[in-house]
Amino acid sequence: MNQRILLAVLAAGAAAAIGALMVMNTPNKPGDIHQSAGLSPKSAADLADLGGPFTLTDHNGKSVSDKDYHGKFVLLYFGYTFCPDVCPTELNTVALAMEALGPLAEQVTPLFISVDPPRDTPARLKEFVNVFHPRMVGLTGTMEQVTTAAKAYRAYFRKEDNGDPDYYMIDHTAKTYLLGPDGQYLTYYAYQTPPAEMAASVRSYIEHAQDKKDDSRPAS
Ligand code: NI
Repeated sequence: MNQRILLAVLAAGAAAAIGALMVMNTPNKPGDIHQSAGLSPKSAADLADLGGPFTLTDHNGKSVSDKDYHGKFVLLYFGYTFCPDVCPTELNTVALAMEALGPLAEQVTPLFISVDPPRDTPARLKEFVNVFHPRMVGLTGTMEQVTTAAKAYRAYFRKEDNGDPDYYMIDHTAKTYLLGPDGQYLTYYAYQTPPAEMAASVRSYIEHAQDKKDDSRPAS
């Protein structure tokens, strides 16, 4: 990924430019599908079993588990830092949704789990996630660890084997999952969900959780 170009795009806030980029890159590159393989839109009940425990390494090199992110809502995305277009676009969407949430964003942690551990070192992840949001956390690990995490969310990924160990693409699911403060899977946002729509949905989940908390408070 060319961070200079990405930064320029972000700085310009050029949604139109990003849209054009996606249109340019989507149709004619069958290898870069980034689609929802294995996870078509289904009822909430069918997806209720998504999620599960994971052990990974954060962008500061610290070993972490899913429990480390309990206590806040989580916007979870699987991808890789060398992704030329889809990952930067979707993480920008997450960042814009966080911005749109205003103070409520304090209750949300954006998580980026790499499906490319050989190249996505903690140091590289740290630099990458910081481009998008100061509180975005990058996670990596062994191939086995990231595979376990991806499987828990039925997130598909597959390296395009072109024989080059340094330059390759990875097809992967480009959904953003919303988890509750208890780590429970709540819903997901398809790739290209508008940031305002994502923010409105997250807001409704946060407010609903707040209502439930208020209701369960003993009357005094
Ligand atoms: Ni990607």
